[in-house]
Amino acid sequence: MQPPAIPDHIRRLRPYVPGKPIEEVQREFGLTDVIKLASNENPLGPSPRATAALAAAVSDNLGLYPDGACFTLTQALARRWEVEPEQIVLGNGSDEIIANLGLVYLGPGAQTVTGAPTFVQYKAAAGLNQAEFIAVPLHEHRFDLDAIADRITPCTRLVFIANPNNPTGTIVRRPALERFLDRCPETAVVVLDEAYFEYADDPDYPDGLDYVRQGRNVVVLRTFSKIYALAALRIGYGIARPEIAAALQQVRQPFNVNTLAQVAALASLEDPDQVVRSRRANAEGRDYLYGEFARLGLPYVETHANFVLADMGTPARPYFEGLLRRGVIVRCGDALGLPTYLRVTIGRPGDNVRFIAALEQVIHDSASGR
Ligand SMILES: Cc1ncc(COP(=O)(O)O)c(C=O)c1O
Repeated sequence: MQPPAIPDHIRRLRPYVPGKPIEEVQREFGLTDVIKLASNENPLGPSPRATAALAAAVSDNLGLYPDGACFTLTQALARRWEVEPEQIVLGNGSDEIIANLGLVYLGPGAQTVTGAPTFVQYKAAAGLNQAEFIAVPLHEHRFDLDAIADRITPCTRLVFIANPNNPTGTIVRRPALERFLDRCPETAVVVLDEAYFEYADDPDYPDGLDYVRQGRNVVVLRTFSKIYALAALRIGYGIARPEIAAALQQVRQPFNVNTLAQVAALASLEDPDQVVRSRRANAEGRDYLYGEFARLGLPYVETHANFVLADMGTPARPYFEGLLRRGVIVRCGDALGLPTYLRVTIGRPGDNVRFIAALEQVIHDSASGR
């Protein structure tokens, strides 16, 4: 017996390819000491308050469903960001909110516009809902907001701007963003994906919530996966006009955010020091990597997030593989639409030093033909 045919738009979807897990590299290369600088995780780990809250929650009754409304966390976020609780929606990672935006706004005949390269889940949201996906090339590694505005039509429903962008680490600044928002028609929702918001320290970096508070058709996405270091628990959120947030509530799964994630996120919000420490460590690691890339003669893209793109000048895959053999996992740019680049997540000081030492060896080996 044949199983029913898979619809074409589902067949065309590609499963998300994550950075290689440490265990896989250990197995493949027979290594014990492997570091991963590939998925833009925070190497300092979560707040001790979050881990303590988690331990207590685990010994509570895990047999109960979570609070589907995320009541306490929603109230805390509303206070933190000075918005109404009705403007907030929690998700199983901000990934889920991206997917749910697709469910709400996309369908056959609808369009999504974004930059390229950028975070892959925007394309997935379009493909899953049979919407057209328009990717406008970045200009000098930045979202080209004028070119994006030129591609918006009456059928455009979602415009995704990752700010900072992944994989480039670049930002769009306030004046350019405001000009762009003024050009956007009311028929399109602009999604400002601020997964790396807390790392951005440029004085002209715009806070997307300003535009939500102005009542614009803007959805701001934030996450606890990055600076709060809770990626394993999967929790992110969106903030928008109440009508948009209500639609996102309607399409989500009943208990989409698990209890442990809610508890840890709430405790994290009560520890601003963890953010300050992480931001400081990230800036130090970033400056170290900039200095080393310059010493090695490798051009790099200035970052506003917790990862840096370095240009190897030739296809980066052999360097990526050489690093793997030395137990250092980074992201190869060919998977991200930047074939000569390596993307490295800023790690702890020792990890950054080890990455640079391994990279230097790989470069040396490749120059001597080994
Ligand atoms: C730009 C961007 N948006 C969203 C996400 C997804 O984050 P989350 O873990 O909250 O699903 C990522 C993760 O890498 C990202 O880089």
